[in-house]
Amino acid sequence: MKILVTGGAGFIGSNFIHYWLQNHPTDDIINFDKLTYAGNLENLSEIEKNSHYNFVKGDVCDREQVLDVVKDTDLIVHFAAESHVDRSIMDPSDFIRTNILGTQILLDSAREYEVRFHHISTDEVFGALKPEDPAFNEKTPYDPKSPYSASKAASDHLVRAYHHTYGLKTTISNCSNNYGPYQFPEKIIPLFISNLIEGIKVPVYGDGNQVRDWIHVDDHSRGIELIIEKGEIGETYCLGGDSEISNLELTKTLIKLLGKDESCIEFVKDRPGHDRRYAIDFSKATNELGWKPEINFEDGLKSTIHWYKNNQEWVERCKSGDYQGYYEEWYSTLSSRA
Ligand code: NAD
Ligand code: TYD
Repeated sequence: MKILVTGGAGFIGSNFIHYWLQNHPTDDIINFDKLTYAGNLENLSEIEKNSHYNFVKGDVCDREQVLDVVKDTDLIVHFAAESHVDRSIMDPSDFIRTNILGTQILLDSAREYEVRFHHISTDEVFGALKPEDPAFNEKTPYDPKSPYSASKAASDHLVRAYHHTYGLKTTISNCSNNYGPYQFPEKIIPLFISNLIEGIKVPVYGDGNQVRDWIHVDDHSRGIELIIEKGEIGETYCLGGDSEISNLELTKTLIKLLGKDESCIEFVKDRPGHDRRYAIDFSKATNELGWKPEINFEDGLKSTIHWYKNNQEWVERCKSGDYQGYYEEWYSTLSSRA
């Protein structure tokens, strides 16, 4: 099989490519990525000489480039996106362009060449839960709250519409918060690990009682694999980690695992419109695909901390360029709006 992976130089995409080639060594993968600040070919340096792997630099919003790479492929697995909620609050433009327009261009190209399309989405499209609410499932109405989740919701609707209207062979997965190696140090887990290693305080937004469900990226890759192999065309599958934890509890766990103390915590102003809780009911994936998360959260955190400790130069290289400027702008956004 020949698979086009979009956004394969990012966090989940690069982990997925490693996973896929380990488990399907004779398949061919084309990694199509624009290499934004979040795209990093270092994540794939171990396989750059693998004859089954090919990198093409390009933008999912460029129709000619996309048509060219989609031709001759059997399957598109679409990860490419702007993915950070805080950046979407500062400026939604790239999120609308890449996440919505880029998905439409890929769908058009998949239609043109009759290629199956698997869309990677998020539980954030369902909005925010109260503590007493049941977890999100495939029937939960869409209610996105941030510019990021609104752009992902729009892309999910387009995928469904292309299946319904044109008969395109599509599937969608809506997954909870991922963690693991190669995650850009702007999301809470890699940011807090790298700050704690460097002796910098960790900024907890608001009261820290917001809850997220965490899934190890390898469990996510295995879920995508099963959807590709066994999922029903036109269907959506929710994937979760069965690991709900508040940001404050998560922060205290990281502090303990890294041998630091709680004086490292700094409570800062809250993210505007901050979603209070996400949780996923993944029983459809269990019943129909035989999937459930297998990596225990504390074990996964320990191995992730180990990876970041051993890859501090990778982290430092991520922090070059615009990183400092981004943080200065973000914190000024927080103080002016909260
Ligand atoms: P990421 O930000 O780490 O990587 C995104 C990748 O997409 C980068 O390599 C970037 O260069 C590439 N990209 C961005 N714009 C592009 C464009 N216009 N053309 C081509 N490539 C482009 O993101 P991630 O965390 O790996 O997320 C991957 C996907 O998974 C996204 O669709 C995201 O919405 C979804 N998702 C993420 C999480 C999570 O916890 N990170 C959870 C659920 C779903
Ligand atoms: P994040 O990793 O950005 O993922 P998402 O917003 O997609 O869930 O944030 C996870 C949670 O951690 C979210 O509730 C916001 C919170 N958070 C902080 O408290 N401090 C931080 O510096 C960051 C980046 C996030």
